[in-house]
Formats: sequence, structure tokens, C-alpha cells
Amino acid sequence: METVTTIRAVRERVQAWRRAGARVVFVPTMGNLHAGHVSLIETARRYGERFVASIFVNPMQFGPNEDFAHYPRTPREDEGMLGATGCDLMFMPDVAEIYPHGSERTARVEVPGLSRILEGEFRPGHMEGVTTVVAKLFHIVEPDVAVFGEKDFQQLTVIRRMVAELCMRVEIVGAPTLRETSGLALSSRNQYLTPAERKLAPVIYRTLEAAAARIRAGDADFASIERSGFETLERAGFRPDYFSVRRAEDLGGATAATRTLVILAAARLSRARLIDNVQVMRP
Ligand code: PAJ
Repeated sequence: METVTTIRAVRERVQAWRRAGARVVFVPTMGNLHAGHVSLIETARRYGERFVASIFVNPMQFGPNEDFAHYPRTPREDEGMLGATGCDLMFMPDVAEIYPHGSERTARVEVPGLSRILEGEFRPGHMEGVTTVVAKLFHIVEPDVAVFGEKDFQQLTVIRRMVAELCMRVEIVGAPTLRETSGLALSSRNQYLTPAERKLAPVIYRTLEAAAARIRAGDADFASIERSGFETLERAGFRPDYFSVRRAEDLGGATAATRTLVILAAARLSRARLIDNVQVMRP
């Protein structure tokens, strides 16, 4: 695997592969890689012959009081992990390579409705930061396919919408969430948890699963399911931001007629803000 830091070097490599007829699959990340990220590369293998991963902690998607400065950065370990999974190219730009005029002044990409709900309500500007950097990365790499985790379900939905609305040529593939045996979704931010909080954290997934079980059993009182999920998290010691039952397709409000749903939750423990979701089909 080769590591490059410039847009120009990425373009040179990718153009040579494309000329040789290879399909290029791209996995964007913020680094500090774990098995969940590695599983995205494994999914990527099914869609092409050449694989590019980016590692870029994107300042534009962090709020002023968020963890940009402290976000874990482990480039050497990341390089080892990516090399071992058969990734061909790791793109690790610095901030000036992506935002030569600063992230405040950059041309930006927004998906107004979808970006402002759920995560967008509690992290203003976050989704715009994600769509902007992902659009830039797509223009740099020009992949045939890009893989995103269902762990960040709203992010995946917003990116699909951006690609459709802006007629981008890339195919978006969603990959399932990798979990610890406790049910806790793997996340770089799990490192912020104290040992006691780590024991508590799997309650998020258990609460989502309990809500999913109610829905599978035919319960369509989504307001009550949301309330009881929110209260369960509060009682367990979290500070939940939301616990919400939505239409999986577009994150619109679920009705008794909706068949494919997703339940999304975000909750804080002292330093960490955790998000998770489960998809559920109604009988
Ligand atoms: P990051 O949090 O590093 O995640 C990179 C990719 O890994 C995302 O598509 C995310 O959904 C996926 N992922 C994270 N944890 C996972 C898990 N437990 N199982 C499966 N996939 C998992 O998401 C971002 O970075 C950024 O917002 C980015 C898209 C790179 C834009 O900056």
C-alpha cells in the first residue's frame, strides 16, 4: 500500500488504474481505525479491484465545543491496518490541502431538510461539514463505488441524497454495523468512556433492540416507543439527545403504513456522545 498526502498524487494513481480498466472503490474515514472500518474495506472488495481509503479528521464537521482537537489520531497504526486488509492507497491530506482558504470560506454542499434533523438538530453544521468534505473527496478520488457504515445511518442517507441530487456518478454502498459481543457498536469515541461507562454503554443497543421487538410484535404506537426508549436511557444514567422511530428510506416520520423503519438514538455519557440505530421491518 502506498500513502500519499496530495490531491495530485491521488489523481495520478487512480487515473492509471482506471485506464487499465479497474473499478475503484473508496472508503472515507477519520482514522483511528478499528474492526468496523476494516469491515468496510472487506465490503469494498466485492465491488472492484482497486481500493482507496482516506484518513482526514475534518474540522468542518466538528462544532466549536466538540472534540476536534482531541479526536484520536493514530496514523502509523492506521497505515498498518489498511495495508494488512489489502487497501492500495491511503490518502492522508492535511487541512490546507482540503481547505486552502479555510473551512469557513469553502464552497459548501448542503442537503437542507435531511441535514437539519436528528444529528443536525443537536450538532448544527455537522452534516454540512460531512457532505462538503465527502463531495470534495469524491471529486478528488472519482471512485466508481464508495462504502459507508450503517452505524452512521443518517450520514449514509444524506450522502445518498447528495449523490442523487447532484448527479454524482458514484454508487453508494451501505455496510452493516460491527458490534462488540455486548452489542456496543465499535466507535473511535468509545475510548472516551471510563470503565464504568463502558459497562453501561451497551444499554443503548439493548434499548434499541427492545423498541425493535415491540415494533416487530405489531406495536405501532411510535410516540410511546420513543418515550419509553428515551426514559430507559435517562434512568440508566445517559443524557439522551433523541430516541426516534423513522422511515428508513428518508428519515421522515413513521406512520402505521410504513413497513421499513429505523430507530435512531444519540446519548451522552460524561465525555462521550454515542450514536446507534437498528433497522426493523413491520409485520
Ligand atoms: P468515521 O467516523 O471514521 O467513520 C468512517 C466510516 O466507518 C463511516 O462510513 C462509518 O459509518 C463507518 N463505521 C464507523 N463505525 C463502524 C462500525 N462499528 N461498523 C461499521 N462501520 C462503521 O464517518 C466518518 O468518519 C466521517 O463523517 C466521514 C464520512 C469520513 C467524513 O468526514
